[in-house]
Amino acid sequence: MERPTLYITRLLPQPVLDAISGQYRLLAEPTDLPPTEEALRRGFAEAQAVICTLTDRIDATVLSHATKLKIIANYAVGYNNIDLPTATQRGIIVTNTPDVLTDATADLTWALLLALARRVVEGDTWVRTGRWPGWTPTQMLGADVSRKTLGIIGMGRIGQAVAQRAAGFRMPVIYEGRHSVSSPPGVSWTRRPLDEVLVESDFVSLHVPLTEATRHLIDRRKLALMKPTAFLINTLRGPVIDEAALVSALEAKTIAGAGLDVYEQEPVVSVGLISLPNVVLLPHLGSATLETRVRMGLICLDNIAVVLGGRPAPNRVTKT
Ligand code: DGY
Repeated sequence: MERPTLYITRLLPQPVLDAISGQYRLLAEPTDLPPTEEALRRGFAEAQAVICTLTDRIDATVLSHATKLKIIANYAVGYNNIDLPTATQRGIIVTNTPDVLTDATADLTWALLLALARRVVEGDTWVRTGRWPGWTPTQMLGADVSRKTLGIIGMGRIGQAVAQRAAGFRMPVIYEGRHSVSSPPGVSWTRRPLDEVLVESDFVSLHVPLTEATRHLIDRRKLALMKPTAFLINTLRGPVIDEAALVSALEAKTIAGAGLDVYEQEPVVSVGLISLPNVVLLPHLGSATLETRVRMGLICLDNIAVVLGGRPAPNRVTKT
């Protein structure tokens, strides 16, 4: 029997490629570079299944070529890169990769939080210059993390995983979310309106999906609610923060710092952010562990196998 045609827009980790080989006919050898418009058009025109990434914009034009396509397996939990209503209208199933990247993303959120509070990157840079004069009592004083208030905006899977990790630091957690979430035994998670979370938290971490409603959710007014000693962390999607407003708040020191893994116009990062010392900047590493990226690929392949076999996809997304 002829193998189904699969188009993957990027090179994936080797164990995922190994799992693909023999089962599908790959339309083209994947590379680490973004696909050209022509490659994307051809992929969507000829394949029965596509694995694409969060940087591929799958809009109505791309989808208009998809005559044989049954499934787009997005290699990410967020799927704001895909025009879901158009895909649905064309009868194409869209899936994502939830759960498997929850821990990796929550861990990275904590890496940013701790790096910011304890000035880890600044300290590392100083030592490497060879100009560190030795210990003094007033050197590079950071902020305590333990017992401070952690504010979480968006208490879905990743928000809750970040909150769970706060127990070890004995931090009270307040959160804004669509639904109440029960706290695990021995800790208290309190649901509050967004403005109150911003006013009261020492660390604010964002975990809402990017939609039209959450674009620039954190704008000038919301930033002004935060304490001058508070830190903002974003491992979600850049456009949830008005980046220009964030630069102004950081420059004016109306907040203490920001830890960012994502940006409004990736891979472009505001010049204002790059020149500030009270900011830690990462290159969208949320799910970037080998184990996680392999699991993400295998989930894409599971969804594809099921859909091409005529059964319902376990990770179908339906809401924008
Ligand atoms: C996602 O899955 O949405 C992450 O941003 C990928 O790193």
